[in-house]
Amino acid sequence: MDAGQMFSLVGKRVMITGASRGIGRGLAHGLARAGGDLVLVARDKKTLAQVEDECREIRADIDVSSYSCNIREPEQVRQTVAESTKNGKRIDVLVNNAGLNIRTPALEVTEEQWQTILDTDLRGAFFFAQEVGRQMVANQSGSIINVSSVGGHVALRTGVAYAAAKAGVIQMTKVLALEWGRDKVRVNCIAPWYFRTPLTEKLLDDPAYLGEIVARTPLRRVGEVAELVGPTVFLASDASSYVTGHTLFVDGGMSIYGF
Ligand code: ADE
Repeated sequence: MDAGQMFSLVGKRVMITGASRGIGRGLAHGLARAGGDLVLVARDKKTLAQVEDECREIRADIDVSSYSCNIREPEQVRQTVAESTKNGKRIDVLVNNAGLNIRTPALEVTEEQWQTILDTDLRGAFFFAQEVGRQMVANQSGSIINVSSVGGHVALRTGVAYAAAKAGVIQMTKVLALEWGRDKVRVNCIAPWYFRTPLTEKLLDDPAYLGEIVARTPLRRVGEVAELVGPTVFLASDASSYVTGHTLFVDGGMSIYGF
């Protein structure tokens, strides 16, 4: 297999959660370019329809569909996976990306905030992986890419609930990789540091905050969403056929910077 084929997503159907904006939307564009067919999932049907159109502009022959789903509702997750795999259609790759954060100092975190963050970022991610994983195990093939964060590994000022949820995603990845490896289903994780998205835009517009981030990043800049595409294509494609349970930090070197 040559390098082009190894990294190709041609013939692979990729489901992306949280696909309406930010990292999910950028990955949809990038994976469309890499030849994948797409199933886009998010709550807002209208913005999803826009991303669908953008993907068709990138590649006219793409097979792209979208589903409105609140991942905090396991019944909606089950329905979404069932509907998107009707008529023998399979999901070859899941990019388990949907998530949110409410930045609050630990002493002020409410029960409701804790619940919302954990229900979306960890419980939602697990039940999506479980439902898609069920089909992948039956198909004896598949690759799941969970989106964690550098904040799931080192302590960041992102808030304690988000940190706990994203650390949970890293550990969940390892256990799923262990359980489903014999069924030829790989489960890996990407852990981004700061990327320019609608969620981070305001923070990054503060020159003092941006300066601190850049000073802690060996590559001396924040990431562009397009730079998450390569690592995701690697984990989605046959190029990573012997890689499972791994967390790939896409962080400009931030997580190894001790001083
Ligand atoms: N992104 C953030 N929260 C979400 C939710 N509840 N469902 C789907 N995508 C989301």
